[in-house]
Amino acid sequence: MKNLAGKYCVVTGAGKGIGKAIAKRFLEEEAAGVAIWEYDPALAEATARELDPTGKKVIVLRCNVADSDQVKQATEETVAAFGRIDVLVNNAGITRDRIFHKMTDDEWHAVIDVNLNGVYNTCKFVVPMMREQMSGSIINISSTSLMGNPGQANYAATKAALQGFTRTVAKELARKNVRMNCVAPAFVDTDMMRAVGEEKLSASISRTPAQRLSQPEEIAAVVAFLATEDASWVTGQTIFASGGSVCS
Ligand SMILES: NC(=O)c1ccc[n+]([C@@H]2O[C@H](COP(=O)([O-])OP(=O)(O)OC[C@H]3O[C@@H](n4cnc5c(N)ncnc54)[C@H](O)[C@@H]3O)[C@@H](O)[C@H]2O)c1
Repeated sequence: MKNLAGKYCVVTGAGKGIGKAIAKRFLEEEAAGVAIWEYDPALAEATARELDPTGKKVIVLRCNVADSDQVKQATEETVAAFGRIDVLVNNAGITRDRIFHKMTDDEWHAVIDVNLNGVYNTCKFVVPMMREQMSGSIINISSTSLMGNPGQANYAATKAALQGFTRTVAKELARKNVRMNCVAPAFVDTDMMRAVGEEKLSASISRTPAQRLSQPEEIAAVVAFLATEDASWVTGQTIFASGGSVCS
């Protein structure tokens, strides 16, 4: 597999879970470099060493995507190291689940700040570069929760917003040969999913037509497709990678 040969990629929140699987898959596709922009630098360093023991291809930037100054610095340091950014995956995301009438202002704003404003922040710095270089692929990780999921009004609002953002910016960027798409997973076997507890986990699996959780690698494969030129005519789309949970 050499579908990302010569390409320099950024994956936010790639210290673990889906982001880590995406970074791993990009290296298997022979990406020239992968930058991990991560809130937890120790986690990211350990992941970088695991994925790239020689230290030649993976770099780690400490970055809270909700903080515009940190994103600006991560962009500058990535460009200093790689020279360009060809692929951006907005994967970093958090949950602060609570039924809406009990949700606190902090829980609402924390999720909006990371899941939605974080994508705005990265795109603000990366989109102009991709326009200038007349190429690029941006993939935003949404969620099937956008269809409605009790306890996730904050999270669902952000994941639905990413669809509208993606459709709009994709249309603006198409003539510049820059693509933007969403991948919307359902229940993926990561720490985020396991945090809901055994009872909710079993209920989630039984609601899934495929009757299992997905593995992070199954999401990474869809992201990798969208990142490559195999998807050159695909932009503004949301691909539901959900074992049949959402059929569009
Ligand atoms: N796990 C699922 O079932 C599922 C389903 C649908 C969508 N998603 C989405 O997939 C993405 C990844 O989820 P996951 O399950 O791998 O989560 P996870 O909690 O296992 O990993 C998230 C990673 O993002 C990092 N991160 C968190 N906040 C950050 C910030 N402000 N700046 C930079 N990095 C930050 C964390 O340190 C961690 O490494 C998220 O956007 C999530 O909403 C997950």
